[in-house]
Amino acid sequence: MCGIVGIVGKSARDIVLNGLSKLEYRGYDSAGIYLNDLKGHEYLTKKVGRISNLKAALTPDEQGLVGIGHTRWATHGKPTEANAHPHFDVTKRFYLVHNGVIENFKELRDNYLQNVNLVSDTDTEVIVQLVSLFAREEKLDTLTAFKKVLNLVRGSYAFLLVDNTQPDHIFIAKNKSPMMLGVGDGFNVIASDALSVLDQTQTFVDLQDGDVADITKDSYKIENLETGAVDRPAHKVNLDPDAASKGTYEFYMLKEIDEQPGVIRKLSQTYLDSEGHPNFDPKIVDAMSQADRIYIFAAGTSYHAGLVGKAMIEKMTNIPVEVDLASEAGYHFPMLSKNPFFIFLTQSGETADSRVVLKEVNRRNLPSLTITNVEGSTLSREATYTILLQAGPEIAVASTKAYTAQIAVEAILAKAIGEKLNVEFANEFDLREELALAAEGMQQLVDGKEKLQELAKKYLISSRNAFYIGRGIDYYVALEAALKLKEVSYIQTEGFAAGELKHGTISLIEDGTPVIAIINDPVTNELTRGNVQEVEARGASAIIIAAKEFARESDDIVLPEISYLMSVFLTAIPIQLLAYYASKEKGLDVDKPRNLAKSVTVE
Ligand code: AGP
Repeated sequence: MCGIVGIVGKSARDIVLNGLSKLEYRGYDSAGIYLNDLKGHEYLTKKVGRISNLKAALTPDEQGLVGIGHTRWATHGKPTEANAHPHFDVTKRFYLVHNGVIENFKELRDNYLQNVNLVSDTDTEVIVQLVSLFAREEKLDTLTAFKKVLNLVRGSYAFLLVDNTQPDHIFIAKNKSPMMLGVGDGFNVIASDALSVLDQTQTFVDLQDGDVADITKDSYKIENLETGAVDRPAHKVNLDPDAASKGTYEFYMLKEIDEQPGVIRKLSQTYLDSEGHPNFDPKIVDAMSQADRIYIFAAGTSYHAGLVGKAMIEKMTNIPVEVDLASEAGYHFPMLSKNPFFIFLTQSGETADSRVVLKEVNRRNLPSLTITNVEGSTLSREATYTILLQAGPEIAVASTKAYTAQIAVEAILAKAIGEKLNVEFANEFDLREELALAAEGMQQLVDGKEKLQELAKKYLISSRNAFYIGRGIDYYVALEAALKLKEVSYIQTEGFAAGELKHGTISLIEDGTPVIAIINDPVTNELTRGNVQEVEARGASAIIIAAKEFARESDDIVLPEISYLMSVFLTAIPIQLLAYYASKEKGLDVDKPRNLAKSVTVE
């Protein structure tokens, strides 16, 4: 999950740097840029840390009409200047940036590069050294040498390669890692995603796995390692450049939390007809209604959205649902029912753990649906069906609006299947009204955000640990709440089934330990209040987030009225805001927490 940008045929420096800044969410522990002015001058600068460090290191004369750049999330080798991209060969003729992981780089290094002095610990350097070796020793042209190396490689890659003996070309190659080719007037641009170079062009070519191409300022020749020459049509993308800007917000995370009421309204308008019936592709609904078991695979926040989806789909369709962590299922595939159906929940559509599972589902020729926020993403293209979240770009590493959007799409899907199966609950559940209530309640909670800032300052920012507890759907939300808080504030937080705490973990409760209880379940709310008393008796500082229906005077956050099944939309706002303010008040970079990346495209 690194970011790459390349451009040929236009003043490259600022375009590459701006593109990298927009890709920083993909990784930000080091960055680098190679520029060539096509008059015999070339520049290579690499810096540890953020793009701003790289920008500050460039001198005014470092310009070029060809440029490739990279922002890194380290996989092989620590974040150092030597390990930063672009990497170069011993003759300093070839320069390469890479997003992905080369699984057999040690084998290649040991087989071919014993006499080559490597200057980094990375898998990427092995590739550029190999291209150089084949070009020199076998007198191969650059594209042929590049393809020879690619045919030896196992792993994922998005490569941008420059040969300074023909610097008006960029050679590119894609396998499993995302890469978009942007077509301009008198220039061509390549990047990890379209959004990062949308200010240059809105016309793109979707590259496929195995594609290799020779790019100049006014041409692109694409071939596929397996199928040879291919025709990849260019198309316009319908993305709003402003959507990926912070506007007046200090951090994307708060902007994206605030956007959620609008996203829910948009999903309702998009996927429900005027009578409130879902309007998904009937082929998807037919396929899913024939399933005797639905399997949901995801990671992180998307996994937590899958747990809530299980509750909704089972309630509205009576079809059993199993939710599995993609990273586990990829190598410990679940036992399947006779007519399984598979759902992949993924904001980015590029999560490697999820891709491993989808590959196995496809190998077994079984039906799948990817629910994602990124049109044309790998998991979207490789599944049988796809439904888009329509949430707009989610830039903050911590996922918020994609979480509630995924749950809304699962709810609409559940209603669609339930109606197809004539399940009474689904027929009678007025989802359009419920989603309208959800959006309205979310707006109220977003408008009352100062209360969460106070609670975060009072209970969280000086604490080293915290707990979220809940039962039923509230337990699933407690898991997401814990992930949100810990990933942006670095406070060690656990999400726990309220009834389970007393079976051991309650030993961790000390004076002042924050325990945030989520209480929406009409059946178990009194039991959870009992669990709150248990932890308070041991010194915990309890924060209560409760449904209006059975709120008490002393509760900290009272949620507007909504059905229990839909309560997650409301609970999501305070738990997201608590995480946001805990991080902000601690002076951390809320949008780019340490060690993380937005799209985890390695296993
Ligand atoms: C969520 O806040 C995290 N950024 C992370 O857990 C994320 O949800 C996970 O990596 C899955 O990403 P995906 O939805 O793009 O597949």
